[in-house]
Amino acid sequence: MLKPIGIFDSGIGGTSIWREIEKLLPYEDTIYLADSANAPYGAKSKEQILELSIKNTELLLQKNCKLIVVACNTATTNAIDFLRANYDVPFIGIEPAIKPAALHTKTKKVGVLATKGTLSSSLFHSTSKMFAQGITVLEQEGTGLVELIEDGKAHSEETRILLKKYLDPMLEEHIDCLVLGCTHYPYLIPLIMELVPPGLTIIDSGEAVARQTKAVLEKNQLAAPTKNKATHRFYTNADTSALSFLVSGPGIYIEYLDF
Ligand code: DGL
Repeated sequence: MLKPIGIFDSGIGGTSIWREIEKLLPYEDTIYLADSANAPYGAKSKEQILELSIKNTELLLQKNCKLIVVACNTATTNAIDFLRANYDVPFIGIEPAIKPAALHTKTKKVGVLATKGTLSSSLFHSTSKMFAQGITVLEQEGTGLVELIEDGKAHSEETRILLKKYLDPMLEEHIDCLVLGCTHYPYLIPLIMELVPPGLTIIDSGEAVARQTKAVLEKNQLAAPTKNKATHRFYTNADTSALSFLVSGPGIYIEYLDF
């Protein structure tokens, strides 16, 4: 039996990362946990985020995963050091892409839209300090956005109004790069594009996470044979409809699981 890649997020947002992994590694089996019953993680304390990350990791390990992708900026920035120190499998995390934004910006001003949990983490601060020298980083908490996306309202007027409220102050400061620091936010890109000037670059780290996953699998000799016909199992502890709306196709199974 081939071992799958395990992926978890506070809900459906990490499917934006799963999609990139599936595109780059179509022969890899995957198991995805959407911990929607506990979303949003971003408003929780570091201890609570750690506890939830441990619960998700242990379930993925029970399901025989060979590598775990923490497809959540909030869980990565608060828990990945602990996970790496305490479990044997390799972990891949996702953090707001400050470095590419700092290299790309011409106005020397970049905006970061992320959860409170991510923006208040020490990992985010050290990354920011390391890569954004000489750059002004405007941080904006996306309070309420994860809940709207979980409720299937990513394209709603309510979401548009909230997003405008968050983006306008950063645009007034002339940012030319916007870093999406939460894996739910790629689902807001159509709305964001309507609200920002055409020259603004939107940066998210999905593709980079998939490339890193491939490199770590190969380095550890964990890659599946390329002829494998992959299966993808999605487990959610909430209604399955939000997930079913985002992912479907051959080899994809979506189930409710109480975890
Ligand atoms: N997708 C999670 C992230 O990347 C959302 C966190 C939350 O549930 O607040 O941060």
